[in-house]
Amino acid sequence: MSSLNTDLSRFWSPKVHELSPYVPGEQPKLSNLVKLNTNENPFPPSLKVLAAMQDQLGDSLRLYPDPNATELRQCLASYTGLTADQVFVGNGSDEVLAHAFQALLQHGQPLLMPDISYSFYPVYCGLYGIEKCEVPLSEDLTINVADYQKPNGGVILPNPNAPTGELLSLDAIRQLLTANPNRVVVIDEAYIDFGGESATQLVPEFDNVLVVQTLSKSRSLAGLRVGFAFGQSHLIEALERVKNSFNSYPLSREAQAGAIAAIEDEDYFLHTCQANIVQREKLAQQLQALGFNMTSSKANFLFVTHESKDAVAIAAALRQQGIVVRHLTSSPRISNYLRISIGSASECELLVQALKDLL
Ligand SMILES: Cc1ncc(COP(=O)(O)O)c(C=O)c1O
Repeated sequence: MSSLNTDLSRFWSPKVHELSPYVPGEQPKLSNLVKLNTNENPFPPSLKVLAAMQDQLGDSLRLYPDPNATELRQCLASYTGLTADQVFVGNGSDEVLAHAFQALLQHGQPLLMPDISYSFYPVYCGLYGIEKCEVPLSEDLTINVADYQKPNGGVILPNPNAPTGELLSLDAIRQLLTANPNRVVVIDEAYIDFGGESATQLVPEFDNVLVVQTLSKSRSLAGLRVGFAFGQSHLIEALERVKNSFNSYPLSREAQAGAIAAIEDEDYFLHTCQANIVQREKLAQQLQALGFNMTSSKANFLFVTHESKDAVAIAAALRQQGIVVRHLTSSPRISNYLRISIGSASECELLVQALKDLL
């Protein structure tokens, strides 16, 4: 319900009154905080990305960017072994997901999603009037794909799941696609590069899979806002139809050039992903030694709960020390968990030291 008095909110559409918008993790204004709350990459973007973007800063900014992002889509097609008409690009994967909800998941039957998952999905359901059915995670907070075999208007899940980081195998995804032949299954791979196998390789085989990825996490470009979707051309065409009814130019000239450079700089990408993975495993061991239990994360964050100390109290005490982590309240089952992004080696050291002092 609106926080404005009824007099002022009378200008709002009935739809706006109903919305429960997503609340992103805090982006604090203080620069000296250790920021481990929104799964950003501690490594800077590739220097080649910065150079490619710099090249765009000139007279050509007078002109609109390529509305079809032809070169970027071709680059992503070559990278994944698909064709350009099997690639869609948008302003961050959040925008790509929003278009998928409207274009492909609205079928008068409930959309299946895990009950503990990316909290933007229910928000898009509210925005587009899609009924949802939250499928409970198993006792150990993993997804069991056999639970997704009921009548539905589509399926969406992150792989690895957020905020647990638990990964499904490609075989499990295949099972999910086979069990839902007449519905689109969206696999949100925001964190796939930190240890998973991408379902993009299933695109030629399955006409119902849409794989969504982002440059925000594994390519250190959350600020650039570039996301993609991969699927057979009939699915991509549906996304294009929505996009071209909404904003023809979602990606600026800098974003398109920077994204191409990011995909092309494979060495830097592999090096930084590996460094994040090594740091994740080290931090996991250190936190276990301090009495934390955790899910098995294959993402760039850990999802942890302490054997005796309350999660909210830990988060508040860390904040006092200038360290920000995320406490999610979407389900009582995870109310005593914290999601901690993998920071740089020195940030993780500061975190471990602060936790040692605290515990
Ligand atoms: C599971 C998942 N999907 C999608 C996104 C959106 O990423 P972006 O819009 O930055 O591409 C996030 C961001 O945290 C996420 O956790």
